[in-house]
Amino acid sequence: RTNTTYDYFNRPLRDLRISVTDKCNFRCTYCMPAEIFGPNYPFLKRDELLTYEEIVRLTNIFVQSLGVQKIRITGGEPLMRKDLTELISKINQIDGVKDIAMTTNGSLLPLHAKLLKDAGLKRVSISLDSLNDEVFGKINGRGVTVKTVMKGIDAAAEAGLEVKINMVVKRGMNDQEIIPMAKYFREKGYILRFIEFMDVGNTNKWNLKDVYPKKQILQDIQQEMPIEEIDPNYPGEVATRYRYVGTKTEIGVISSVTDAFCSTCNRARLSASGTIYTCLFASKGYDLRNLIRSKQSDLEVAEHLQKIWHGRKDQYSDERSDSTMTRNKIEMSHIGG
Ligand code: GTP
Ligand code: 5AD
Ligand code: SF4
Ligand code: SF4
Repeated sequence: RTNTTYDYFNRPLRDLRISVTDKCNFRCTYCMPAEIFGPNYPFLKRDELLTYEEIVRLTNIFVQSLGVQKIRITGGEPLMRKDLTELISKINQIDGVKDIAMTTNGSLLPLHAKLLKDAGLKRVSISLDSLNDEVFGKINGRGVTVKTVMKGIDAAAEAGLEVKINMVVKRGMNDQEIIPMAKYFREKGYILRFIEFMDVGNTNKWNLKDVYPKKQILQDIQQEMPIEEIDPNYPGEVATRYRYVGTKTEIGVISSVTDAFCSTCNRARLSASGTIYTCLFASKGYDLRNLIRSKQSDLEVAEHLQKIWHGRKDQYSDERSDSTMTRNKIEMSHIGG
């Protein structure tokens, strides 16, 4: 394919992360703290959301004219949006899409896993931060039990979806859960990824002291179970991979804070309201909703997007400092991480 588009630092665009809703049935403290995302929080209204037709049109342009190959559906919680399987199946019909994945809290998967798989979804990343109900209930802000998520994990696996587990690690919140989680999912044979607590948005009271660093996570695990680093699955993979020595089971560490990976970042993010962001920590995006609701042709939209990507200079995690932290940044629930 000759449609690969490169940014200012010569990074191709390969992944499109599509947020389909800014709503969620959880209130994780590090993402949508309940005291801010309360009953009066101004969530997007229906006509502010891109329709499925609009998402599909944009996805098609990203794939045909910009070289995107992987699609990830996110939120908020993507399964809060009605008829999501319809969207998956339409995206699956786009020629050139090599992979469709979803990031979810798992709670609604028992209802949808089978249909999602049939519609063309290949993989899910399911978030789970603890095996302890009291700890987990506090983290998710709604008292959701571990079992609720486990049922989602089982449903996904039974439906034939590839499953990865995402655990955000925050010092003092769940660092004591690293070993129990590692042991549990090693036994189960699922890939568990440890994610450093990140300074996304402006509402999660991020502090460097709360980051439990990659090095420490690896040390903790190494003491109990020997691990060895293995090669990335693809260029620009976010997680560094490790394998339990003598097994085929692996873990990953996503270290945006202490070991950034911007130099290979090939991801663009489309918000539920149709704004494109070229970085997870962006202060501003580029509105596409009005653009596609005016009479622009696909070619015109494609040229506009190519210009945006050509000019992209984002490398937030590489440049992170005291002064970048106070920037006004988009909330995680708007762009799905
Ligand atoms: P794979 O395709 O399975 O490699 O998925 P993924 O790990 O890219 O996706 P997922 O949604 O599971 O993301 C896991 C974590 O990585 C989340 O906390 C994301 O916010 C974080 N993440 C993903 N992409 C980026 C990125 O470009 N920059 C930063 N800083 N974090 C990212
Ligand atoms: N830091 C790190 N990871 C986060 N996530 C949400 N907020 C944060 C944060 N502040 C994770 C979710 C999910 C993924 C999309 O991002 O737990 O696994
Ligand atoms: Fe919802 Fe996921 Fe954010 Fe938790 S991390 S509040 S489950 S979108
Ligand atoms: Fe990409 Fe921005 Fe994350 Fe760096 S901080 S890896 S540029 S999304």
